[in-house]
Amino acid sequence: MLDDLARPGFWQACEEQVAEARRLFARLIGADIDQIAVLPNASVAAHQAASGRRWRRRRDILATPAEFPGVAHTWLAQPGARVRWVGPSGGQVRTGDYLSQITPRTGLVSVPAVTYRDGIRLNVAAIADAAHDAGAAVFVDAYQAAGVMPLNVDSLRCDYLVTGTGKYLFGLPGLAFLYIRHPDGPPPGLTGWLGRTDPYAFRATVLDFPPTARRYETGTPAAAAVYAAVAGLSLVGGLDLRQVRHHTQRLIAVTAQRLAAQGEVVRLAGHVDAQGAHLAVVEPHAEAMAAWLGHRGVIAAPRSGVVRLAMHAYTTDDDIDAACEAIAAYRCRSRTRPGGLR
Ligand SMILES: Cc1ncc(COP(=O)(O)O)c(C=O)c1O
Repeated sequence: MLDDLARPGFWQACEEQVAEARRLFARLIGADIDQIAVLPNASVAAHQAASGRRWRRRRDILATPAEFPGVAHTWLAQPGARVRWVGPSGGQVRTGDYLSQITPRTGLVSVPAVTYRDGIRLNVAAIADAAHDAGAAVFVDAYQAAGVMPLNVDSLRCDYLVTGTGKYLFGLPGLAFLYIRHPDGPPPGLTGWLGRTDPYAFRATVLDFPPTARRYETGTPAAAAVYAAVAGLSLVGGLDLRQVRHHTQRLIAVTAQRLAAQGEVVRLAGHVDAQGAHLAVVEPHAEAMAAWLGHRGVIAAPRSGVVRLAMHAYTTDDDIDAACEAIAAYRCRSRTRPGGLR
C-alpha cells in the first residue's frame, strides 16, 4: 500500500485491490462477485441486509442473546420488528433452540455461525431449512468462522452472510463483506456514490441502484484494511480449510483436556463438531488474566467473564503448552482459583 501511495494513481490501485478482495472472498464462500458488497463493518452490513425488508405480517426476528451485540442491536433497531430471543441469556444456545421457535410470523432468522464468546458452532443449514419452510429469510454472522473452517453459502443455504476481515482472515479492522443471495431486492437504507450503477458518472441528481450487491455499498473504503484483506485472503485461499478444521479441533480437544487437568473451568459445546476454533476459559477477572498472559506472549481476548484462546492453521502443540503453563502460572501468582471459585 505504501508503495502504491508513492506512485500516481493510488485510487485506481486501491480500486483494483477492492475488486481483488471481493473476488477472493466470493471464492472463499462459493458465491458470485455480484453477490458481495464491501462495507466498513459487520454492524453496517447487518443494517444493509435488514433495510428494505418489511416487518408487517412477518414481524418477528429470531436472534440469540449469544449473538455479537452489534448484530443483535441492528435487529432491535428495526422499526416495526419484534425480536424473539432464542436460547438462554448468558448460557449456550443450541440448534434445537432455533428450530422450536420458528413460526409463520418469523420474517428473519439470525444465526451466528460460531458464537463470539463461547465458540458454539450452530447447524446453520438445519436452521435455514426450517426457516425457509416457514417462509423466513436467514442471516448468518460468520465473523468467528470465516478463514478457519470451510464455509459455503449453498451448503449453509443462507440468504445473507456477513464477516469482517480482522480475525481468522488475517486482515485488519475496517472492512466487512456482505453476501446477498438475491441482490436485486428493495434499495438499502444507507447509500453513497459507490452504490450507483456507474459511480464514475458523478451525477449528483440521479439515485439509481445496480442489480448487484454493489447497491449496498456506500463511500470510500478504508484502504489499509483493503490491502490487508487481499493479503490475508490470499493466505487463507492457499489453505485446505478442511485440514485446518481437523487441526483446530484436535488442538481444542488437547487444550480442553490440559486445562481441565489444571482445574480450569472451560465452556465447551457438548460435541467437538459443535465447537468453533476457540475455547473460553471462565474467569471473572478476564481482563486482568488476559493482560497478564499478554505480557508473557500469549495473546488472548477477554469477553464478559471468559478469556478466549483461539486456534488457527499456524497454532502448534508448543503454543498450547505455553498458553496452559502461563494460565497455571497466573493462578499461582494471582492466588485466584479456576472458574472464579473461592
Ligand atoms: C461474531 C462477531 N460479529 C461481529 C463482530 C464485529 O462487528 P463490527 O464489525 O460491527 O464491529 C465481531 C467482533 O468481534 C464478532 O465476533
